[in-house]
Amino acid sequence: MNISPQQGEVSRADRQALLNQTSVTIWFTGISGAGKSSIAIALEKALHTLNRVSYRLDGDNLRLGLSKNLGFSETDRSENIRRVGEVAKLISDVGVIVLSSFISPYAVDRNMVRKLHEDSGFRFIEVYVDCSVTEAERRDPKGLYRKARAGEIENFTGVSHPYEVPIEPDIHLHTENSTIEGEVSTIIDYLVAEKIINIGGTDEIVR
Ligand code: ADX
Repeated sequence: MNISPQQGEVSRADRQALLNQTSVTIWFTGISGAGKSSIAIALEKALHTLNRVSYRLDGDNLRLGLSKNLGFSETDRSENIRRVGEVAKLISDVGVIVLSSFISPYAVDRNMVRKLHEDSGFRFIEVYVDCSVTEAERRDPKGLYRKARAGEIENFTGVSHPYEVPIEPDIHLHTENSTIEGEVSTIIDYLVAEKIINIGGTDEIVR
């Protein structure tokens, strides 16, 4: 391949120490309208208040740029997740907490992104944002379910394209019967329990 990785003189641990935090990729998966982006937005704000730097990667936003040449076929969705997984790992390497919201319908792709992180010593937390199609369709915040049912969008997740339910997510949220504040608390409590953030103290730096 004639390619060799270049090592710098400042490590990920150095950057995390400078930022005074531990990086982690928090990966939200679930159907459109389940609440992934809303939870990530609220979590970003909560982490900011706790003096932690985080950055959101969102399906709709990335598909306007990095993934704008991709559609919603199985191959394109896998390529989307591969790209985003690499970007998440890069941002995690900066020392920043990544909040990644993508439908990511295939278990094999989600597992690939987890492996990508864990093989290099990066922490990865899969959050299943669970919501029935019936409820997501009732919410229909972008009017996409209506269009999908009318046959105006093909390969629409939950209508004409599959979503593989995570078997063992690290965190399982049920957005049909909980509040965004409660969901954010669940995630923060998990981060504290896993010693990723130490409220009122210094985070443990991963070397
Ligand atoms: S993924 O399957 O590749 O992970 P991603 O999260 O990037 O999907 O993009 C999903 C967003 O694209 C949805 O929130 C919705 O706004 C929009 N979208 C457009 N077409 C589709 C479709 N066929 N299926 C699902 N979402 C779609």
